[in-house]
Amino acid sequence: MNNNKRVDICEVGPRDGFQSVSEYIPMQTKLAIIEKIIQAGVSSIQVTSFVSPKAIPQMRDAVELAKVCVDKYPQADFSALVPNLFGAKTAAETGILNISYVVSLSESHNRANIRRSHAESIEELRRIMGELPHMDITLDLATAFGCPFEGKKSPEEVVAFLFQFVDLGIKTVNLCDTIGVANPAQVRETIAAINETYPDLILQIHIHDTRNMGMVNTLAAIEAGVRTAQTTLGGLGGCPFAPGASGNLATEDLVHMLCEMKYQTGIDERIIIEAAKYQSTLVDGIYSGHLYQIETVNVNQKSG
Ligand code: COA
Ligand code: ZN
Repeated sequence: MNNNKRVDICEVGPRDGFQSVSEYIPMQTKLAIIEKIIQAGVSSIQVTSFVSPKAIPQMRDAVELAKVCVDKYPQADFSALVPNLFGAKTAAETGILNISYVVSLSESHNRANIRRSHAESIEELRRIMGELPHMDITLDLATAFGCPFEGKKSPEEVVAFLFQFVDLGIKTVNLCDTIGVANPAQVRETIAAINETYPDLILQIHIHDTRNMGMVNTLAAIEAGVRTAQTTLGGLGGCPFAPGASGNLATEDLVHMLCEMKYQTGIDERIIIEAAKYQSTLVDGIYSGHLYQIETVNVNQKSG
């Protein structure tokens, strides 16, 4: 397979999508949706976050849910978001060894989200790497393109901020447009600036669709060479600590576009759309997806 045409989609709906839903979603419902996502061929799924249940009550079942997932689907690539050492240790105990450590580029959002200064977040990461050297850690760089409190962020600011993390040994960075303010030129320029300064760093992209630019920004990242995109089923979501944030780009919409453009994702378009429809009947939230709402998705399709 031509690797240039391979894009891995990481489904983050069970974390980023569900965390935006105020009413508790029963664990069995979460597991039923995760099963549909796996059936569609999505191998990489962020199933939960190990955070304070006071901050995000929806994630209070994280330990039990993670254990069921790891036991039931040993072949799947599960990850979880963590804000601190406590969360990283809990993840390891459940068998989830792939964690996304969240830090916001904007210090005010970092404080609103995880109640830490930048210096405290970096120190905590140093402790996680020291105490849990077997964990696979991705830096989730929240507000990488702009912040609800501090405004737009430049590529130079991103590059400068990343230095401390690269220096610590971080190898993968997920660029998160937490409040959906990026534009394709900014995405391209940010990726180019990072590539120039840290050519070995692996980048991922995570775009919220707040201003209807989820697809163009994700495509800009893919065309700039990023090979992992995070999305949520149905486009469900929003950050509870970022006023005005709405859902992510919808998984099934991205799968459809990539499929039309002859990229390989390993995901069955029909089944992922069905999964999104199924989720929308079970979870009452804010959705930004398009395809799960329409009957005829592919105009070239003769049947099925
Ligand atoms: N998992 C579960 N519980 C945790 C935890 C974790 N990772 N980290 C801390 N806690 C618990 C502590 O045990 C303590 O419990 P207690 O009050 O019963 O003793 C309580 O949370 C407060 O702990 P503290 O270390 O003082 O945390 P804090 O109040 O400064 O909050 C965070 C910091 C990071 C724990 C909290 O802000 C948080 O979980 N944020 C996540 C936000 C989020 O998920 N945002 C969306 C994703 S980007
Ligand atoms: Zn997000």
